Amino acid sequence: MLETLDTPVHHQLREQSDAYPRPTFHNGRPTLLGRMRRHYLDILASIYIYNEHRGYRSLDRVLEAVRLRCPDDRTFTAQVEKHRADERKHYAMFRRYFELRGEMPYAVDRTCGHIDRLIRMTFGCHIDDLDTDAVVAQPELFNKLCRIIMITEIRGMHMVDTLLQSLLVKADRPLTKIFKVIEKDEPSHWMPYDAWLQCHDGGKPRLFERLADFWVHLSLVLVKLPLLYCNPRLSRRTNWQDDEAAAANESQPSRIARTV
Ligand SMILES: [Fe+2]
Ligand SMILES: [Fe+2]
Repeated sequence: MLETLDTPVHHQLREQSDAYPRPTFHNGRPTLLGRMRRHYLDILASIYIYNEHRGYRSLDRVLEAVRLRCPDDRTFTAQVEKHRADERKHYAMFRRYFELRGEMPYAVDRTCGHIDRLIRMTFGCHIDDLDTDAVVAQPELFNKLCRIIMITEIRGMHMVDTLLQSLLVKADRPLTKIFKVIEKDEPSHWMPYDAWLQCHDGGKPRLFERLADFWVHLSLVLVKLPLLYCNPRLSRRTNWQDDEAAAANESQPSRIARTV
């Protein structure tokens, strides 16, 4: 169908669809290597789209805490707002990536969420259960939240650098384009928290926080990702994360107001 239409939109779609690495074919069937490569990239993108979605949803609540904690600091608030908008944009790019291929992401859960697990290890509760009032009222808790976000973003920056060197990722032009956008955005995601911490005696990330980050990263790359890859029963999502979140908000309008 795309071959026969010559509008600019169809031209762009054709160009984009040509850019996805297709499994190479042998006797009319995709080769094993091609299918393995496609499977790996799909799992990688599924973990990313999950994390981007968790990122901007969590930042909604961080933003609420920032506005209450430092109401006069317009610069910091604007930086966090920009951070939230970037993460929303990253999510949308991955969603488009899957949509153009006519696939849904794999159904990965919070065990693949870097920020989910880091908050769990450092605050002792799930991110959705963080007590906003306590974070706003206690400087040490607010500083800790800033340090955790900073560590997560620095980790994300290094991860993207590594992925952009990967031959598997480089073979997928749309995915490479997405990672290049993330690479460009990433420094502006952790620097504001670092600057704020320096100005308010927030200190540098503690040893335990760094170790927790290292552990979460290591277990994700060396354990979680291979397990997902080898799981033959891993299913695809049946809806998009933001559609699901919108539906949940409609049914529970007071929940956001209650939590950080
Ligand atoms: Fe992101
Ligand atoms: Fe980021």
